[in-house]
Amino acid sequence: EKGGYKHFMLKEIFEQPRAVRDTLAGRLREEEGDVYLEDLHLSDEQLQGIDRVTIIACGTSWHAALVGKFLIEEHCRVPVEVDIASEFRYRNPVIDEKSLVMLISQSGETADTLAAMREAKRRGAKCVAICNVVDSSIAREADGVVYTHAGPEIGVASTKAFVTQLIALYLFTIRLGRSRGMMTVDAGRALIAAVVRVPALMEEALKLNEQVEKLARNYLQARDFLYLGRGMNYPIALEGALKLKEISYIHAEGYPAGEMKHGPIALIDEHMPVVVLVPQGANYEKVFSNMEEVIARGGRVIAVCSQGDSEVASKAEVALEIPTDGEEVAPIILSIPMQLLAYHVAVLKGTDVDQPRNLAKSVTVE
Ligand code: F6R
Repeated sequence: EKGGYKHFMLKEIFEQPRAVRDTLAGRLREEEGDVYLEDLHLSDEQLQGIDRVTIIACGTSWHAALVGKFLIEEHCRVPVEVDIASEFRYRNPVIDEKSLVMLISQSGETADTLAAMREAKRRGAKCVAICNVVDSSIAREADGVVYTHAGPEIGVASTKAFVTQLIALYLFTIRLGRSRGMMTVDAGRALIAAVVRVPALMEEALKLNEQVEKLARNYLQARDFLYLGRGMNYPIALEGALKLKEISYIHAEGYPAGEMKHGPIALIDEHMPVVVLVPQGANYEKVFSNMEEVIARGGRVIAVCSQGDSEVASKAEVALEIPTDGEEVAPIILSIPMQLLAYHVAVLKGTDVDQPRNLAKSVTVE
């Protein structure tokens, strides 16, 4: 049942190109630069009538939400707020009939996310869910659903569910942008072309597996890791840190690279590996100089950069080169080395990768 892999988690990591193809299947209207989301149940008029989006989730799904904020604000020019479900439901959120509330949940059963949705509905918001499990509670109670179609995820640490949530967010962004007239046909086509390339780019990124397996043994003694990224890739730094924490039990923190100088830089020494997400793109120079600051203070840098970036490779202790092919989908491709690093460190430490201590696959308690 693990298909020849040692753990479900590794199987699910390698399944990702297939999972993404399934998320995209039947939904692309490439000519029109638009997408068809069969269970969204929101008309163009309804999408035009909203004045804000609030995305609510927990854990890894919350990291996907943070990428979603970026995508929607960039392409649709609608203000997006992102909230952790257990925070949202215990304050007095500004939500009304003009709000679109999006819930992201792999299981569709997370108690806090479900309760947050009920609260949002009570306040009159339209609710759309991004779920993996068909007919789950959140999917059933939402006004509309975008299913991720990743297939069952057995490993407790979310991998393929996360990347397909990201794909679902790209698709939703296209639909929202097109319906509100904020995205041209050409812009829609360009974003579709970018997501269509994802499975092939992922196949390429998965070739890092052997390199990551070999280097993992150099980091087993570390007590703490720092993960740095900027912009759309900052949530991937958070996700990389969460993956490492939950399966290897090594303490890790994700930070926006620009925040380092406001505190965490004091932590840097030769004992703390720092994972720096520095692919080509808008924030490249800024992150590059953040990386140099880490190195200048004796930090050990594991850089994740674009293929052929010899400048980064010559500075970092390790460079993991990914195919970026345009920065638009970088968060998705960067997720793969994050998963592989956490996986191999954990396997070498001998932890129960698929069933980490104290964790459950779906958190149905509040
Ligand atoms: C981390 C992980 C958890 C879940 C969180 C939300 O790998 O799996 O952080 O993401 O418990 O679960 P769902 O998405 O089912 O609501």
